[in-house]
Amino acid sequence: MSVQIDMGVDGAGQPIEMDLEELLATRLLVQGNSGSGKSHLLRRLLEGSAGTVQQIVIDPEGDFVTLSDAFGHVVVEGADYSLVEIARLAQRIREHRASVVLSLEGLEMEEQMRCAAAFLGALFDAPRDHWYPALVVVDEAQVFAPAAAGEVSDEARRTCLGAMTNLMCRGRKRGLAGVIATQRLAKLAKNVAAEASNFLMGRTFLDIDMARAADLLGMERRQAEGIRDLARGHFLALGPAISRRPVAVKIGAVKTSARTSSPKLMPLPQPGGGDLQSLLFAPIEASPPPPPPPPREAVPAADLMRSIAAPAPSATAPQVPHIGDEEKEDIVAEALREIVADPASAFQQPAVLFQDFATRCRMRRLGNPGLDIAAFRRRLGMAKAGIFREDEEGWADALAIAGTLPEDMLGTFLFIARAARHGAECPSDDAIAEIYGTRSPGRVRRLLQFIEDQGHIVVRTDLSGRRSIGLPTLGWTTASAEPKPEPADLFTRSR
Ligand SMILES: Nc1ncnc2c1ncn2[C@@H]1O[C@H](COP(=O)(O)OP(=O)(O)O)[C@@H](O)[C@H]1O
Ligand SMILES: [Mg+2]
Repeated sequence: MSVQIDMGVDGAGQPIEMDLEELLATRLLVQGNSGSGKSHLLRRLLEGSAGTVQQIVIDPEGDFVTLSDAFGHVVVEGADYSLVEIARLAQRIREHRASVVLSLEGLEMEEQMRCAAAFLGALFDAPRDHWYPALVVVDEAQVFAPAAAGEVSDEARRTCLGAMTNLMCRGRKRGLAGVIATQRLAKLAKNVAAEASNFLMGRTFLDIDMARAADLLGMERRQAEGIRDLARGHFLALGPAISRRPVAVKIGAVKTSARTSSPKLMPLPQPGGGDLQSLLFAPIEASPPPPPPPPREAVPAADLMRSIAAPAPSATAPQVPHIGDEEKEDIVAEALREIVADPASAFQQPAVLFQDFATRCRMRRLGNPGLDIAAFRRRLGMAKAGIFREDEEGWADALAIAGTLPEDMLGTFLFIARAARHGAECPSDDAIAEIYGTRSPGRVRRLLQFIEDQGHIVVRTDLSGRRSIGLPTLGWTTASAEPKPEPADLFTRSR
């Protein structure tokens, strides 16, 4: 099914359309200074695809709540719920494919980040049965995926960044298509920006942002100078969902209005008209202070869930259960298993995966998995070798040897040890490279040489060039195999 969203017109007045299916597969990044028309653009996109695809909007300023009247989006006021409730709402939203606006208006930045992280994390962790396609629109994305540490706590920043990274880097398989807008590319974490294949660049003043925009658009810096002079509502567009060459687009009108809009000039009161002097200096006590705004009625979480789904929610508030050591180890093992099962993890920095890990544990109600980053690296190495539990049987000796190696080699050593223990074929160079997190054959060679020099492995290559690796201390040996199988074999192996 091909669905085209009419975004506006190009310089010649021809319509510019966005292919919705392609957008779902390739994500979108919008950049432009404040007032360049990003939120308007997102609104045009949302209005044009409402009713065709599920839409989830993370809205730091509460601008998009007006979609509710026109298109029936459910509004979730982030300030009204606990993080546990937010996560449960997100689960329901996935299950029932409800279009929603998560408004974070009125929250401090750190709270906004925590709320978005819990929400995105739960969307991401939805069970496979609920992996329906959805646009996940994040306005002011630099708030949620900042490039640098800022005034918020490190923990909040990293959790939220992890959730945004998951959305952009690994959401696709789960049906989540990130559409993010930012005022400043330089303030947005690079790995989050890098995963979008479609770009809409609006007016940009600062050189550093322009340079990054030019890079993303594949333009010469000089050519990109034009971005400085773009008028409000005008963007340069590129990407598989829009156009294979950069095109200029003027975004068309929208049906709903933003709750906030740019200030407009209005005539000042006529001088001498009213007696301003006496108005301002009238006795203060005489006029009562303005009444406080009426408190907003929070919709109870249970009612909101009912409006998202037909099934009646449980009446009791969610409790954070106590988690024993055994169950803790189960949760840790399960989170590690998921991380290594995802092919996108192979070349990720451990620090990013650590955040991912923490989020996964938290989603299973395990707030403190009891691992610091060093311990996590070790467990990640073990997990890459297929050892998910600390106390897995028969591994004590191999783990003791692994413990004498530099930390980054632990996983590779155990991976080889696993093959040797079961007499399986010796892993290929490519397989070892993937576990080690490198693409360089030279590094694999040096790695094996190093471990061999420590006396922990013995590499034998027979006359036909097949390799086997033995672990002398443990008496385990792999079967021999080609170190570089034919590309065809590789292909079948990776299927
Ligand atoms: N394509 C457009 N056509 C008409 N008005 C627009 C267009 N783009 C933006 N505007 C108006 O300009 C103002 C700023 O736009 P907005 O989308 O809020 O900018 P940003 O989100 O980039 O700060 C708003 O009042 C909006 O209605
Ligand atoms: Mg905006």
